[in-house]
Amino acid sequence: MNKKTVKDIDLKGKKVFVRCDFNVPMNEKQEITDNTRIIAAIPTIKYLLEQNCKLILASHLGRPKGEVKPEFSLKPVAKELSRILDKEVIIANDVIGDDAKSKAENLKEGEILLLENVRYHKEETDNNPEFAKKLADMAEIFVNDAFGAAHRAHASTAGIADYIPAVSGFLIEKELTVLGDAINNPERPFMAILGGAKVSDKIGVIDSLLDKVDTLMIGGGMAYTFFKAQGYNVGNSICEVDKVDLAMQAMEKAKEKGVKLLLPVDTKIGKEFKPDTESKTVDWTEIPDEWEGFDIGQKTIEIFKEELKKAKTVIWNGPLGLFEFDQFAIGTNEIAKVLSELSATTIIGGGDSGAAVEKAGLADKMTHISTGGGASLEFLEGKKLPGIECLQDK
Ligand code: 3PG
Repeated sequence: MNKKTVKDIDLKGKKVFVRCDFNVPMNEKQEITDNTRIIAAIPTIKYLLEQNCKLILASHLGRPKGEVKPEFSLKPVAKELSRILDKEVIIANDVIGDDAKSKAENLKEGEILLLENVRYHKEETDNNPEFAKKLADMAEIFVNDAFGAAHRAHASTAGIADYIPAVSGFLIEKELTVLGDAINNPERPFMAILGGAKVSDKIGVIDSLLDKVDTLMIGGGMAYTFFKAQGYNVGNSICEVDKVDLAMQAMEKAKEKGVKLLLPVDTKIGKEFKPDTESKTVDWTEIPDEWEGFDIGQKTIEIFKEELKKAKTVIWNGPLGLFEFDQFAIGTNEIAKVLSELSATTIIGGGDSGAAVEKAGLADKMTHISTGGGASLEFLEGKKLPGIECLQDK
């Protein structure tokens, strides 16, 4: 990585603004249901505490769109962080208001302050320079460790770096190293599995991966656009008719590049979009009208499985079916299981595929689960991430 990290500058006793991605899922009682992203921020926080820093932590939670909404408060995160660190975490009642400012001013070495949700201000997502400056004025150094939000050019992820020296934390360093090595220097055969609902969300990454991988496997909702592109009936399955051309181009590019493109050969279909709907498995060329494809079928699972056994590096992004409904989670779960048994490097994009692997209890069997959904996707597409670009070069 060519960006400075917390190890490259003297931080002893400094007041540090640390941007984390504490955008964690919560239930209706505001209880955190998955603390992975909080755990992932711990190494940087502990290191800064060892340096006797005064820590001001900031994050977004959800998309409150510039309004103060209690259901998006970071208070439960402060509690969880305090439990994990076994240490008090002071919570500010606002972001740049009097409470945050006075608590930040009075912070002592080794103390931690968590600001309220930065997205309580519209200026955050607008990357408003005055707002960014107010954040910067609270501290001497900016440490960005919010990999999950690194694709956002927001005030607390990028704008703030215009005012104080900016370096990365260990999480960003790890994500960039693991994802970067896989993409730029993979042990081969290098394979990618892409799922998710829409071709439009993934076309950038499909295009970029076709320049790099040996095999590309496609499942999930977007497979039906590929079926359509070959002239087959997809019934009521999700299908972007206006993206059929993109699917065709991807198939042609795979041929030109000599990439093995594996599409599903069968699919599990259902009558209605509900968990207990009537279902059956059919060949991909035989989806009846009125039925909807929700998962890859067993034959496809076997083909993907056999191919994956040869892999030395695998990147997986996007579930292969409607994994929220148990009867359509089989493809996603089976592929997660296969990956967990490989001796290859296995990298799981964050978001839904990460959640699926966690749900299957296989997280610790993978080489790396990215904490970034959109961010890891944009990184794999080869896009520049504003939250990284703004950091000081080594
Ligand atoms: C995520 O959950 O992917 C990150 O926290 C970014 O959230 P956002 O998509 O609301 O910017």
